[in-house]
Amino acid sequence: MNLASIQAAESKLLLQTYERNPYLFVSGQGVYLRDENGQDYLDLLSGIGVSALGYAHPAVEEAIVRQSTRLIHTSNLFFHEGTAELALRLTEISGLDRVFLCNSGTEAWEAALKLSRAHTGRLRGEGRNIGSKFLALEHSFHGRSMGSVATTHKEKYREPFQPVMPGVEFVRFNDVADLRAKFSDEICAICIEPVQGEGGIHPISRKFFEAARELCDSTGALLLADEIQCGFGRTGKWFAYQHYGILPDVTTLAKPIANGIPMGAVLCTNNAAQAITPGMHGTTFGGGPLACAVAIAVIDTIKRDNLLEHIQDTGEFFHGELSKLAARHDCIVDVRGIGLMLGLELNSAELAKQVAAQLMDRRIIVNRTSETVLRFLPPYILERKHIETAVKALDEIVSAAYAGAAPAGEQSHG
Ligand SMILES: Cc1ncc(COP(=O)(O)O)c(C=O)c1O
Repeated sequence: MNLASIQAAESKLLLQTYERNPYLFVSGQGVYLRDENGQDYLDLLSGIGVSALGYAHPAVEEAIVRQSTRLIHTSNLFFHEGTAELALRLTEISGLDRVFLCNSGTEAWEAALKLSRAHTGRLRGEGRNIGSKFLALEHSFHGRSMGSVATTHKEKYREPFQPVMPGVEFVRFNDVADLRAKFSDEICAICIEPVQGEGGIHPISRKFFEAARELCDSTGALLLADEIQCGFGRTGKWFAYQHYGILPDVTTLAKPIANGIPMGAVLCTNNAAQAITPGMHGTTFGGGPLACAVAIAVIDTIKRDNLLEHIQDTGEFFHGELSKLAARHDCIVDVRGIGLMLGLELNSAELAKQVAAQLMDRRIIVNRTSETVLRFLPPYILERKHIETAVKALDEIVSAAYAGAAPAGEQSHG
């Protein structure tokens, strides 16, 4: 089937959840995706922060082949060889104690919310006075299931599905006074993304993070750090919270863990983990042998190839080049982000649309989020030469911006 016939078939057969861009990718190599005509595209989005080691990475291929010819699934009723090996690595890199493995970001976040409620139940059982409400942040994004949309700020994600989970209040981003005013012993958890992704690449402030930690400590509420987009090396440290020297009680991972094989994870302290006993929570596929084998290979490759240092280095270079561009063009109003999680904010949504579309015309993949922000979440193996190509293209496009280009639909679907 070619692109046109696939488009026609999908428009009749699929639930219309996405407005896909009209490109058909058939393979990938390194940081490039190849379309059905054999054209290569420099991928600065990596499947929305998923293909951390890029495409056709030998370590990933080897793990998939080795494990898929041995064992793909056992269910969580039995042991297999990968779970403990992966949990050892995840606890070592995170500083947290225990792991729950699942299949996606929203499933991990949902488990973190349930864990918070169960933790509250345990504290109440010990005679402590603590409520069951959540504080989440304005411009947050936590996923698409009912608890996740309830803690997601944008109205458009919640409104069609009302009533979503009640008991969530939103705090103004980085507003410590608002956080303090809304926090009380009614709160069972504070939900944050250390670097907001869908919200437009906004790192949380140190003061806000510290205040959230202090408030949770004062009542026994849990501090939940959603690192589904910003975690697992993306910012140049394994976890974005490590830039702040603050340990949350719970963190969630998904996107890049298994380089595209679906996987999510919840990591938590021993204290928080006490609330969960057998039968309270589960998943059929979560933590299966195939996903575990690939995740182990990804972690070992990131370590072996010193990719965290590489991300810090290329991320700084990328940030610097974008900042130089911003200094030359008034229409670029901000450059934000850490490591290889970067955002370039333009002064209008229309311009951001045009620039994203024209980059695509030049076979460079980025995405637009929060209307005006071009988002870069490239594979960790990106090199300086790729950044130079992208920044040169951006410079030319922005310079000629008002000559106009066909707008592309917004594609910010996390
Ligand atoms: C911070 C954050 N949390 C949760 C999710 C949901 O993850 P998934 O799409 O795997 O359910 C996303 C997806 O973009 C995300 O960026």
